[in-house]
Amino acid sequence: MVFLALASAAVVVAAYAYAQASTPVSQGQPISGNYSGPLRPQIHFSPPTEFMNDPNGMFLDADGVYHLYYQYNPTDIVAGNQHWGHATSNDLFHWTNQQIAIYPPTNDSQLFSGSAVVDVNNTSGFFPNQTNGVVAIYTLNTATAQVQEIAYSSDGGYTFQRYAGNPVIDVNSTQFRDPKVIWHEETGKWAMVVAHSQDFVIEIYTSPDLKEWSHGSNFSHYGLLGSQYECPNMLALPVVRADGTSETMYLLAISINPGAPLGGSITQYFPGTFNGTHFTPADGATRLTDFGKDNYAGQFFSGVPASQKQIAIGWASNWQYAQTVPTGPLEGWRSAMTLPKISSLRDAGAAGIELVQELPDLSPIYESQLVQNRSTDNLTLAIDYSSVSSGTIYLDINVTNINMAAVSGTLNFTITSSSTNESLSAGYLLSSGDFWIDRGDVEGFKNLFFTDRFFTVYAVQNGAWRLQAVVDRSLLEVAIDSGRQAATTSFYPQVGGKMDGLLVAADGLGQAEVSVGVWGLQSGWAAEASQDGLVYGNVTSSS
Ligand SMILES: *[C@@H]1O[C@H](CO)[C@@H](O)[C@H](O)[C@H]1NC(C)=O
Ligand SMILES: *[C@@H]1O[C@H](CO)[C@@H](O)[C@H](O)[C@H]1NC(C)=O
Ligand SMILES: *[C@@H]1O[C@H](CO)[C@@H](O)[C@H](O)[C@H]1NC(C)=O
Ligand SMILES: *[C@@H]1O[C@H](CO)[C@@H](O)[C@H](O)[C@H]1NC(C)=O
Ligand SMILES: *[C@@H]1O[C@H](CO)[C@@H](O)[C@H](O)[C@H]1NC(C)=O
Ligand SMILES: *[C@@H]1O[C@H](CO)[C@@H](O)[C@H](O)[C@H]1NC(C)=O
Ligand SMILES: *[C@@H]1O[C@H](CO)[C@@H](O)[C@H](O)[C@H]1NC(C)=O
Ligand SMILES: *[C@@H]1O[C@H](CO)[C@@H](O)[C@H](O)[C@H]1NC(C)=O
Ligand SMILES: *[C@@H]1O[C@H](CO)[C@@H](O)[C@H](O)[C@H]1NC(C)=O
Ligand SMILES: *[C@@H]1O[C@H](CO)[C@@H](O)[C@H](O)[C@H]1NC(C)=O
Ligand SMILES: *[C@@H]1O[C@H](CO)[C@@H](O)[C@H](O)[C@H]1NC(C)=O
Ligand SMILES: *[C@@H]1O[C@H](CO)[C@@H](O)[C@H](O)[C@H]1NC(C)=O
Repeated sequence: MVFLALASAAVVVAAYAYAQASTPVSQGQPISGNYSGPLRPQIHFSPPTEFMNDPNGMFLDADGVYHLYYQYNPTDIVAGNQHWGHATSNDLFHWTNQQIAIYPPTNDSQLFSGSAVVDVNNTSGFFPNQTNGVVAIYTLNTATAQVQEIAYSSDGGYTFQRYAGNPVIDVNSTQFRDPKVIWHEETGKWAMVVAHSQDFVIEIYTSPDLKEWSHGSNFSHYGLLGSQYECPNMLALPVVRADGTSETMYLLAISINPGAPLGGSITQYFPGTFNGTHFTPADGATRLTDFGKDNYAGQFFSGVPASQKQIAIGWASNWQYAQTVPTGPLEGWRSAMTLPKISSLRDAGAAGIELVQELPDLSPIYESQLVQNRSTDNLTLAIDYSSVSSGTIYLDINVTNINMAAVSGTLNFTITSSSTNESLSAGYLLSSGDFWIDRGDVEGFKNLFFTDRFFTVYAVQNGAWRLQAVVDRSLLEVAIDSGRQAATTSFYPQVGGKMDGLLVAADGLGQAEVSVGVWGLQSGWAAEASQDGLVYGNVTSSS
């Protein structure tokens, strides 16, 4: 990760507190947070207080616990003073805040993004007599260099020791960061992807032990360049072929910032093959993970078996406005993560291999079903969900038996506030395949870069179409056709403008069948709160 601003073509590193001395942060206890504010997402992760950006170090441990680390400034509401915050979850909806996992070693350095692996075979030698040792691989940033370091944890990822032999990679560069490491079974080695950000190079390194790293290859100048490459990820994913057979391919994801087509930051990906040293893209196309503006620096959990769908989480914001959104002054925190994206590849015929990002199964957190409706007529459903205490809902719509010759109409939904008349809408023109999201009538945040509308195009396939959406106080996530297209959109209702109404409308669908389900969801955070309303996290941890 890095936060910089560009003035026209000239690269100007903004004065975002790089040199800011770290205020001492209390160690050994999690920071407590108030998760009850009206803008706080209830099933998405957000930090207890202050500023968060990229997900880091994500791994699944042998006990089934998901570990999420994150770029965290515990002492300010904007980026700077970067630490690795930490939270854990069994289900990816209920999170337990843990003590900060890794601190910057000096008051003039920052701990930037990176990854973590479980070293089951003790390849590093750090873990006599244990199979659950964790090694974190991250960038240490100073005014004069970005170097790759490692730190190890003998207690399952809660506390870390910096390796005495750091740095493990130093190429005397100030723009070299965000290492993501995987185990490559066939060559019996670790493989790292790391960005030479302003050279537009993803370098692949290999290592037998996580300490000694050798150059494998350079993957350079692919796709969108923007102003820099960041946060690469490479991993094996199952791909379902058009004939129904399944195999494994690799995916290389590269985040770019600034300079995304919609402004600011975005993530692109390349399907391909990897042989231990070289990644070869399957074709020359550039594809994006999201058609909205609020999904950056996504990372995949390490430790999910390669034959299974993999799980990614992104940062649900954009550097163009992340540091100015109103949750800071109003509620003392900034930025949330996306929901987990259940990821696989599919054979899209002439369009090549595409990433599918399904929403997770939300049924474990259903609180109540608000609507169940089937119709072959024009449809208007108005739902008051003010009784859902989390304020968080899930909408699932299937349109089937679509006769394209008879279709001229629209299917759309609008989220409204009964107190302020603000609204957020999205919808689909079935005949053209145009899909839109419009956040322009939500009034709590106005900013040149906080653009109103997002679009994609997706043709009806085999006479059926599905739309899923989660609305979580200040975040909207949509998935089209079970994740073949996806968007994450933040929105900020004005003070007092709680969203509490849903309107679903369809007409001109020519007797297609429309099946609508809407559920109120349980809050993951309310379940963690103490009687005084605060979430204290894992206070049983060592002090
Ligand atoms: C930073 O650390 C140096 C060396 O320990 C110390 O001299 C300096 O006072 C510290 N600065 C601040 C602002 O804490
Ligand atoms: C938490 O935030 C809510 C909403 O902003 C506020 O009403 C409440 O007093 C806060 N609770 C505590 C314990 O600070
Ligand atoms: C782990 O590696 C260290 C260093 O090589 C070694 O001392 C230790 O015996 C190893 N432990 C196991 C269980 O292999
Ligand atoms: C590892 O286990 C062996 C056999 O139980 C024991 O002798 C040795 O002391 C242990 N080493 C460490 C570092 O705990
Ligand atoms: C590191 O890079 C700087 C800036 O380009 C250069 O002045 C310096 O000589 C380099 N140091 C080494 C050891 O190569
Ligand atoms: C651990 O060792 C086993 C047996 O050699 C090997 O199959 C496996 O790939 C290794 N895994 C890791 C993560 O080191
Ligand atoms: C890989 O790219 C980096 C960054 O541009 C460069 O310094 C290095 O020399 C390249 N390595 C090779 C072998 O081309
Ligand atoms: C990986 O691919 C590269 C480029 O095609 C090739 O030079 C290298 O030998 C391959 N390595 C292995 C282990 O097959
Ligand atoms: C949503 O759909 C309804 C019914 O087709 C239509 O009347 C309305 O104009 C649509 N809204 C938008 C914003 O397109
Ligand atoms: C449904 O809406 C379309 C387009 O507005 C209209 O032409 C049609 O008559 C409506 N059908 C019914 C049954 O009302
Ligand atoms: C939509 O279709 C999916 C997949 O067939 C199914 O699991 C889901 O329950 C359906 N939802 C509704 C509301 O019909
Ligand atoms: C709390 O932290 C300790 C390590 O300090 C860890 O062993 C324990 O599993 C954690 N408990 C929970 C519920 O997260």
